Amino acid sequence: MNFEIVAKDVMGRIGKFKTPHGTVETPTILPVVNPNIELIPPKDLKKFGAQMVITNAYILYRTRREEAIGKGVHKLLGVDLPVMTDSGSYQLMMYGDVEVSNGEILKFQSEIGSDVIVPLDIPTPPDADYNTALNDLTVTLEREREAVKYKGESLLALPIQGSTHMDLRRKSAEEALKIGGDVYAIGGIVPLMDTYRFQDVVRIILEVKSVLPSNAVVHLFGAGHPMMFSLAVALGCDLFDSAAYALYAKDDRYLTPYGTKKLEELHYFPCSCPVCIKYTPDELREMEKEKRERLLAEHNLYVSFEEIRRIKQAIRENTLFELVESRIRVHPNLLKAWRIVKEYEDLLESYDPFIKHSFFYTGIESCYRPAVRRHQNRVLNVEIENDDIVISSDEGDLADFYLKAPFGVVPAEMMESYPAGHSEVPPPELMEEEALRTAVEGLLKFLSAHPSKTFRLRVGSIWLKYLKDLPKNVVIECLDRKED
Ligand code: GUN
Ligand code: ZN
Repeated sequence: MNFEIVAKDVMGRIGKFKTPHGTVETPTILPVVNPNIELIPPKDLKKFGAQMVITNAYILYRTRREEAIGKGVHKLLGVDLPVMTDSGSYQLMMYGDVEVSNGEILKFQSEIGSDVIVPLDIPTPPDADYNTALNDLTVTLEREREAVKYKGESLLALPIQGSTHMDLRRKSAEEALKIGGDVYAIGGIVPLMDTYRFQDVVRIILEVKSVLPSNAVVHLFGAGHPMMFSLAVALGCDLFDSAAYALYAKDDRYLTPYGTKKLEELHYFPCSCPVCIKYTPDELREMEKEKRERLLAEHNLYVSFEEIRRIKQAIRENTLFELVESRIRVHPNLLKAWRIVKEYEDLLESYDPFIKHSFFYTGIESCYRPAVRRHQNRVLNVEIENDDIVISSDEGDLADFYLKAPFGVVPAEMMESYPAGHSEVPPPELMEEEALRTAVEGLLKFLSAHPSKTFRLRVGSIWLKYLKDLPKNVVIECLDRKED
């Protein structure tokens, strides 16, 4: 086993990933190192928090083949960190052709001592027609089968392709699993990232995760923006590569976990990394291009790793839902994307830990957390001794059960325990309708589980419009009856 999970939250985890050059704590970002363009010396990447890097084997193969074989990739780059090598598939995607065979580039990656090797997969673009995606996938899978014999001491990453066809994504994951990789790398999503099609990205990740076992290491190729790290980690991605830190710097763009800023629009730096403390935006703008680009790249790396540490802390304290629910509010496409998880509630529920310290409600997405549905199901099994039962929406009332959004019915004895009793939720008057509706759904399930009992439902008037069509064994009393 080269992956040990040490903490979990949502579908995310902190793991220890063992490579021939040492153990890496995931989730983490692998900065992309271009062996021929030195923006930040690879040996300096550790100070930003990098534990592993990724470089392009195809570029090395074309430009520095003998040197790479002679020295090995670690010496050539000057790093003692684990190095993953990509095969050149990205060049294939961008430029349509590469002059190397799958066998050659795999053999080369193994010869230069790469810690994680990648076959020459075919990244089919989004929305490709079905037959194109299927044919590409057939070739990719053939190349993955061939890759096993080149592994040597290295670990093997198996790319997952299939364009935006979800059955092909699942098939890709199923077949890769049969071949047996050390890492499963979801690919072909760069065009989706570039156009902010996060809904498609979320769906692809969830379909792939529904096939892979929970202890499979998942890499998300080409997702280098800190804005979406928390979401991707929450869906169970462990490794990311970032070319973004350098590409954005080249364009004078400044990364933050809540979006990208153009250097020209910044009056102040909203960050306390060494770069942002030392310089003002004006000073950076006045610098020569090369220095400015390096400093922006440094900032971009600092904020990227800062976000990763924030996510890891959230996993440790089981507040990853709260973090994701705040991050998705930075872009409507992220918000729409996160709402897709509602369609995968069984999958989510199979991962998310049962016990946490607290439940902070942040908006309607909080209603989709497994804790809510689990609570509603658990309450169905609570034994009721009395025949006349009082359910109240007022926690100050003496009652057998309480009605609390978004949880639904909460037995008095569970008012001090997680989740309903350890929750911070606004009063119903200030809550989204979805939360009240979710509570009422729970209430209805509960009532229909006890057809022979009679219920007195004492509620504030805010609840009344959601309480139409109740069963006959329920009498409603309004706690703040208005004469209208
Ligand atoms: N880098 C970004 N996307 C991809 C992909 O789909 N496959 C590989 N091998 N590398 C990538
Ligand atoms: Zn900064």
